[in-house]
Amino acid sequence: MYKQLQTDKENMGALLQSVQQLALQRFQHIESIPAAAKPQEVQNYPLPEEGLGAATILAKFQEEYQHLMCGSSGPRYWGYVTGGTTPASVLGDWLATTFDQNTQSVKGRGDVSAILEKETIQLLLDFLELPKHFFGGFVTGATMSNFTCLGIARQWIGKNQEYDVARTGLQQPIQIVAGMPHSSVIKGIAMLGMGSTNIHKIPLLEGREAMDIEQLEEFLKQNTSGETMVLSSAGTVNSVDFDDMKAISKLKETYDFWWHIDAAFGGLVACINDKKHLITGWEQADSITVDCHKWFNIPYDSAVFFVHEKHQQRHIETFQNSNAPYLGNPMENFSYLNFLPENSRRFRALPVWFSLMAYGKKGHQEIISRNIQLAQQLTSYIEKSDVFELVAPTRVNVVCFKLAGVSQEKQDAFIQELNSRRKIFITPSVYKGNSCFRAAFVNWQTTDKNIVIAIEELEASYNIIKK
Ligand SMILES: Cc1ncc(COP(=O)(O)O)c(C=O)c1O
Repeated sequence: MYKQLQTDKENMGALLQSVQQLALQRFQHIESIPAAAKPQEVQNYPLPEEGLGAATILAKFQEEYQHLMCGSSGPRYWGYVTGGTTPASVLGDWLATTFDQNTQSVKGRGDVSAILEKETIQLLLDFLELPKHFFGGFVTGATMSNFTCLGIARQWIGKNQEYDVARTGLQQPIQIVAGMPHSSVIKGIAMLGMGSTNIHKIPLLEGREAMDIEQLEEFLKQNTSGETMVLSSAGTVNSVDFDDMKAISKLKETYDFWWHIDAAFGGLVACINDKKHLITGWEQADSITVDCHKWFNIPYDSAVFFVHEKHQQRHIETFQNSNAPYLGNPMENFSYLNFLPENSRRFRALPVWFSLMAYGKKGHQEIISRNIQLAQQLTSYIEKSDVFELVAPTRVNVVCFKLAGVSQEKQDAFIQELNSRRKIFITPSVYKGNSCFRAAFVNWQTTDKNIVIAIEELEASYNIIKK
């Protein structure tokens, strides 16, 4: 065995303890770690001929890189939609690495990791109050989940037109409609060869980011049955708006189309009593995307797809790993590799299983409802302020606002100043043509005191740029 491998094997106890110390420090000090990153050059190293050993590399990481990493899992990183990591999910994640299972088959190879993945899917369905007729699996993120679902939708439409897209490729353009799709949905359509410019945009309701359902129905009436994908949003990134799920589920009774819902983070309102009406009806969808590394606060990379089990045949046709006879008949020998894009894959369910079991429904509900309340607190401050104004209503957990009555240059200077102070991090965005700032609340550690800090920072940054 190569000498450094041998030494590291012998010193594994001490090495793990050092990493544990480092991880603990990070957890204990996450409040004071700068929320925003400072742009910096990093040193590039050539590949060493002789390895340096894990202890040296750990020290190098600590010296050179650790301090450059922003507190993106901390309580005041409100950019994009960035979840943190619950304590139990970190344990699960470490163990997923340690046990390093290749999560594929449920039987035949004694792979308990696939059994636990299926169990975790059931826990998620319970949490989200979705029926058990959904088959689900883990992928790297919502982008990949959208991709997986849309791949099956493409196959379904091809089969309705009497051809097999998986075998012969697309024979004709597919009818795709959406109101306000997330960029990752558009990317999914592009990656699947369906052409992102083929997405027919359904007009949005006045002042909303939700489709006008009458216009959707008009489209469905005029197009061939069984040949359309309706891509809906359950939580748009800016104003967290929802397409009318009840109305779309009603349309399903009359028209035959594939209904996909991107519920990357918005889907989690299903567990909140006074918000779940936003999503009622979603159980009638053909496929649904939900992220775990956002509002579930699971480490990257983790998301699930749910596809109605009645589409199992189309599902397998899409992802069947058919050229390896030793893997068996996919209808008889269940293996995840016939149901999603990857073959070999990490035990992604474990951190989710740890967190759901450790904190239960109530624990995860508490994170979500607290985040919603915190978004309301910031909103109330902005509503009362003479300096800031809301750009969109705060429906759930994202606050979109801007400086009132100032130039674009001042807006740009403001966000730059705010983020360079590094106490809070928020991202610029554009809502209905207006540039604005977004604060997205999805972190389990964010509490009232972080709103107080944020308000101080907003005011201090404004006082600097107004001069
Ligand atoms: C609604 C929605 N869909 C999809 C995505 C893409 O998620 P991911 O980065 O996990 O692929 C996001 C990311 O913010 C999102 O908000």
